[in-house]
Amino acid sequence: MKIGTPKESFAGENRVAMTPASALALQKLGYECVIQSGAGMGARFSDQEYKDAGVEVVKTAAALWKAADIVAKVRPLEGATEEKRVRKGQTVISFFYPAQNEAQLKLMKSAGANYIAMDMVPRISRAQKMDALSSMANIAGYRAVIEASNNFGRFFTGQITAAGKVPPAKVLIVGAGVAGLAAIGAATSLGAITLAFDVRPEVAEQIESMGAEFVYLDFAEEAQDGAATGGYAAVSSPEFREAQLAKFRELAPEVDIVITTALIPGRDAPKLWLKDMVEAMKPGSVVIDLAAERGGNCDLTVMDEKIETKNGVTIVGYTDFPSRMATQSSTLYANNIRHMMDDLTPEKDGVVVHNMEDDVIRGATVTFEGDVTFPPPPPKVQAIAAKKPTAPELTPEEKSALEAAAMKKSGMQQTLMLIAGGAVMLLIGAYAPASFMQHFIVFVLSVFIGFQVIWNVSHALHTPLMAITNAISGIIILGALLQIGSDNKLVLILAAISVLIATINVVGGFMVTRRMLQMFQKS
Ligand code: NAI
Repeated sequence: MKIGTPKESFAGENRVAMTPASALALQKLGYECVIQSGAGMGARFSDQEYKDAGVEVVKTAAALWKAADIVAKVRPLEGATEEKRVRKGQTVISFFYPAQNEAQLKLMKSAGANYIAMDMVPRISRAQKMDALSSMANIAGYRAVIEASNNFGRFFTGQITAAGKVPPAKVLIVGAGVAGLAAIGAATSLGAITLAFDVRPEVAEQIESMGAEFVYLDFAEEAQDGAATGGYAAVSSPEFREAQLAKFRELAPEVDIVITTALIPGRDAPKLWLKDMVEAMKPGSVVIDLAAERGGNCDLTVMDEKIETKNGVTIVGYTDFPSRMATQSSTLYANNIRHMMDDLTPEKDGVVVHNMEDDVIRGATVTFEGDVTFPPPPPKVQAIAAKKPTAPELTPEEKSALEAAAMKKSGMQQTLMLIAGGAVMLLIGAYAPASFMQHFIVFVLSVFIGFQVIWNVSHALHTPLMAITNAISGIIILGALLQIGSDNKLVLILAAISVLIATINVVGGFMVTRRMLQMFQKS
């Protein structure tokens, strides 16, 4: 079968759904590839590069749609010209936004196309490699920080120079989904002090692990269970919203840059950065509103435009951040398509098997064999592992009774172990010479104390601990080397074994430490 990619007809769209590299991978799946001349130019892929990758280049969009059994593109179909090109049985893959695109759903149904909407790929682990929304949001988050820094008159990182002290920029990220986390990564790596907020409390750990500070609210609300909403947030209560806005009002005069990414799928973007907050910001501050396409999180955002308010705050409402980094976004999107094709081609023989029993394919298919198949049933696999049922709450009396029983049990165990240890010592003492017993008791005690100490060390400290054990191993090797010349065979064998084991410990310690250090090295 032939898979083809036309040039995007939406004005200003630079992305392309097939790259020379993805075409090679598609050919390995058994497909022939075809592309419209100039389709890759916006993303800096020339026709010649496609030809070199074995792709047929055709002149017009009409010829492309005619030749291809499967058409992969980025944007939804653009106007009647493109809609009319779809024919019966053709597989079309692109972003589609079916909830807002009912007219085209009906059209595709009557055209008899099998339409796969890349924005409908369910967010389950297996589908991550096809998750085009995430790959585009990742780019948008990164680009938002670059755009902010381009419009901000200061460094992100703090500096002390001969000419004076520069304070670090303070960045607030609202919504820590894919775009938000990418923005946190970019802002912290540029050296800004980064604060982040999300309604889903489970992301606090992710935010903190990326070097940002989670903005906590003084508010008790039933924690949201991400699994129930397919990994997305649910709508928060009015009281929660008030607490959130109060916190933002408090932060507004302090922060230099605000990047808003808050969204609940299928809804308009919640208004979170209100007019009075913009007015409270310092002149020169920047707001980047990633949710501009859905009405914006900021009151003053103008879609697709950059404006400056009276008090000197720049507000950017661009909706085409991925297209502004077209080479990168095309590479990732084309990979998402290639993985989707991989799932659609189980035999790797260049023939599409549109398996509607497959969670991912079913979830993404919006029209199939003359039927509208949107909305899909919920996936059989949950987005995030559901919370384990918690044990029932115990009363204080029950708790103390349980604790007492546990203490009694462990006390009994310790007494038994002491009695057994004492008996073994007495037995050895009855036969062994006095000088041996002295050393043996010191040895047993040091093993016991060493074990107790190491057992209680937290995992994060195991590497420094390894350095200490290396020093101990060094002492063991020295002692063993002094004994290795002994005439007594037993002493000689024991010394040799000590040297061997301690050497393994030293070499292993160095290897593990080296690996750990490599984790902190860039490139
Ligand atoms: P996502 O669904 O992964 O993340 C959205 C986050 O917002 C979630 O973590 C959610 O919990 C949070 N959220 C929802 N309501 C909130 C509230 N009231 N307060 C605080 N947090 C709240 O979405 P993703 O993929 O990160 O996309 C983020 C936004 O970026 C979307 O609006 C998307 O349309 C937009 N986007 C914009 C692009 C552009 O060029 N402007 C390109 C790609 C995405």
